[in-house]
Amino acid sequence: MRIQKIIPHILHHNLEQPFESSFSTFRARTHCLVEMVCDNGLIGWGECLGPATINAAIIDAMSSMVIGRNPLDIEPIWLDIYNQYRDQGQRGVIQTALSGIDIALWDIAGQHFQAPIYQLMGGAFRTSIPAYATGGFRPTGQDHAESCAKEMAGYVAEGFGAVKIKIGYGLASDLATIKAVREAIGPDIELMIDANHGYDAIDAIALGREAAQYNIAWFEEPVVPEALAAYRDVRAAQPIPVAAGETWHGRWAMDQALNQRCVDILQPDICGLGGLSEGRKIITLADTYQVRLVPHVWGTAVALAAGLHFHAILPPSPPSHESRSPLLEFDRTHNPFRQAIVETPIEHHQGRVKVPDGPGLGIEINREALQQFKMT
Ligand code: NI
Ligand code: CA
Repeated sequence: MRIQKIIPHILHHNLEQPFESSFSTFRARTHCLVEMVCDNGLIGWGECLGPATINAAIIDAMSSMVIGRNPLDIEPIWLDIYNQYRDQGQRGVIQTALSGIDIALWDIAGQHFQAPIYQLMGGAFRTSIPAYATGGFRPTGQDHAESCAKEMAGYVAEGFGAVKIKIGYGLASDLATIKAVREAIGPDIELMIDANHGYDAIDAIALGREAAQYNIAWFEEPVVPEALAAYRDVRAAQPIPVAAGETWHGRWAMDQALNQRCVDILQPDICGLGGLSEGRKIITLADTYQVRLVPHVWGTAVALAAGLHFHAILPPSPPSHESRSPLLEFDRTHNPFRQAIVETPIEHHQGRVKVPDGPGLGIEINREALQQFKMT
């Protein structure tokens, strides 16, 4: 079996209602999928976190190192690409592009051995994952507290036991939003806040001290991810557990953050950090430091499927009767192609999502939907 071609697909949908994180405005949903075709007809799929057009261009550039090779040589292919691009890589879009290739290789391996990826990676500790609803961005031109409280109450009504909202729009506005959301969802729902690094340490500490009264499960990306010392400051000076890691790609970046005690919760993203191969190494790293691992997921059903296999193989930590399952990040913001591109949507039932148990990623791509949302 040899790899014949690699096709990046850029999917795109213009948003009728733009929304904002602390630093960017989303006017469209755009994601990059990777299709890997073998000479025996097997096809693997992967997905890359981050800017789709740049990921697609890098995948085109990387494809000459992959075409003609045995797709079961996953680690040798990974290391060859990583090594080739190391000097300008290590982190960022080189690593996100490599992630898409790596996930597609695992999908092919699963189909070849007729086993789900979690089985090939040593077996599942769980077959369904409790999910939390991610949303609560600020709709452009709307009041955040009001829209966010209404949106979160909807997720709770759908059966989610945990929700995450976006903050980073200023201290007064954020505290009003957090209060409104806590009142809307009641005392028993887990509530997380994500600043998308929209604060400096001074404001993040002030926010954390004040927001703690609303029982916040974690404070995500309070400050810019490069500033590890600022993470330490925020973690030391306010009571909410600090979470980050979606932009720390690869085991070296993760190790620095863990070693310097920057976070209580590590959030690696399989479509960003270098794929499932590298993800497996980061599991060992987090386990060694005994830092809680709650993966980041942001993308289509392909990213969700890869994320679910990754969740399945996370060892219970600590290995006790009452050990909690890592939560699955379940994006609820508008994206019509997220589920349309697979034949069987990966949906939640009362806030839980089943790990696909078919060969490889366990998904089948809907070619019509792929065509419909493909950027031309
Ligand atoms: Ni739309
Ligand atoms: Ca985040």
